[in-house]
Amino acid sequence: VEPDQPLRDPFSIVSAEMSTLAGNIASLIGSGHPTLNKVAAYYFQSQGKHVRPLIVLLLSKALSEIPEAERTRYGKVDKDDVHAHKPMTGEGINDPLSPLSILHGINPNLVLNPLSRPQDPFPSECNGILPKQRRLAEIVEMIHTASLLHDDVIDNSETRRSMPSGNVAFSNKMAILAGDFLLGRASVAIARLRNAEVIELLSTTIANLVEGEFMQLKNSVNTSSEAKKASFEYYIHKTYLKTASLMSKSCRATAVLSGANDDVVEASYMFGRNLGLCFQIVDDMLDYTVAEDRLGKPAGADLKLGLATAPVLYAWEEYPELGEMIKRKFSEPDDVYKAREYVRKTDGLKKTRELAVHYHDEALRQLSVLPDSEALQGLKSLTNAVLNRSK
Ligand code: FPP
Ligand code: MG
Ligand code: MG
Repeated sequence: VEPDQPLRDPFSIVSAEMSTLAGNIASLIGSGHPTLNKVAAYYFQSQGKHVRPLIVLLLSKALSEIPEAERTRYGKVDKDDVHAHKPMTGEGINDPLSPLSILHGINPNLVLNPLSRPQDPFPSECNGILPKQRRLAEIVEMIHTASLLHDDVIDNSETRRSMPSGNVAFSNKMAILAGDFLLGRASVAIARLRNAEVIELLSTTIANLVEGEFMQLKNSVNTSSEAKKASFEYYIHKTYLKTASLMSKSCRATAVLSGANDDVVEASYMFGRNLGLCFQIVDDMLDYTVAEDRLGKPAGADLKLGLATAPVLYAWEEYPELGEMIKRKFSEPDDVYKAREYVRKTDGLKKTRELAVHYHDEALRQLSVLPDSEALQGLKSLTNAVLNRSK
């Protein structure tokens, strides 16, 4: 899986767009309520990997290398900006008549209009990337961040990106509300893309995130021999919903916005799906192999949360006694320790890595529909980095 030629740093190919990402998101999530502002912006201020917007931007650029005559989906590509200069309807707390303006001394004139972007350096297509595709990158990062705020409440996590998690820094209640607020603002931005297919895709990813989280919460394991295979399929489906859905459907949306034909749209979707599965399987492996201080979030957390991910599911193939522990979600005093020992004694981690390699290879295979370009090389290199990352 090592690349045969040195690949370009994917970030540098879209660094101009990436450097405006944070500021644009800030303008989308500004609220007149100072505390809500702080909680909603909290995870955007720490050093995230920004994998999802990077995928959207690189794919946008790679798709633009397809001759426009071959991009025939629904006729002409819509190059309009995202109605950037029209004020949004319903100003909420920012309403000058709101009692909050009086009580908290908020000057409504200083409050941002969340959906205007007057200083946008890229008001039209630039470097092959459409304004709507840049907005899509921002939306995807907002949905992801909302899910992290909620996830840390559900997982009772205390750290994220080497900082106190939102629930710890502010409280469960505020973390949940801030996540909901981000989803609300993301939804307004989604509507402004004025593309029904893209609205449907992104709304579905939000539902899928919750479905994946529910599958993780409530997995019914039985210990028959067919159950092992079924449990693995359940794990992969859960992984698709909780992680790969957002990546696959945002890749599909990127291709739809580019006007690409159906084959390219489908390949873009399958690229995101395989990359997303690879990403989460690597995440599940790192939970076993990397220490908390390197990971920037709790390590060895999955067993403690009662979760059976790929390493322990593979170990179960060799040690049937793991079935009972998985079933009771490692709730007996020594279960977590014992399960970890079983994983260590078997090829559980090696097989997990091989599974991640499989999805990595599948993701790369999908990219063959795209013409060679710097952005395509960037996507390949990003795929490689997702597999070989250590945090
Ligand atoms: C991280 O997984 C969490 C997710 C990929 C999705 C979480 C989704 C929800 C909480 C559903 C609610 C969704 C929205 C949009 C508000 P992890 O816990 O395995 O990873 P971690 O180690 O980074 O915490
Ligand atoms: Mg978590
Ligand atoms: Mg979780």
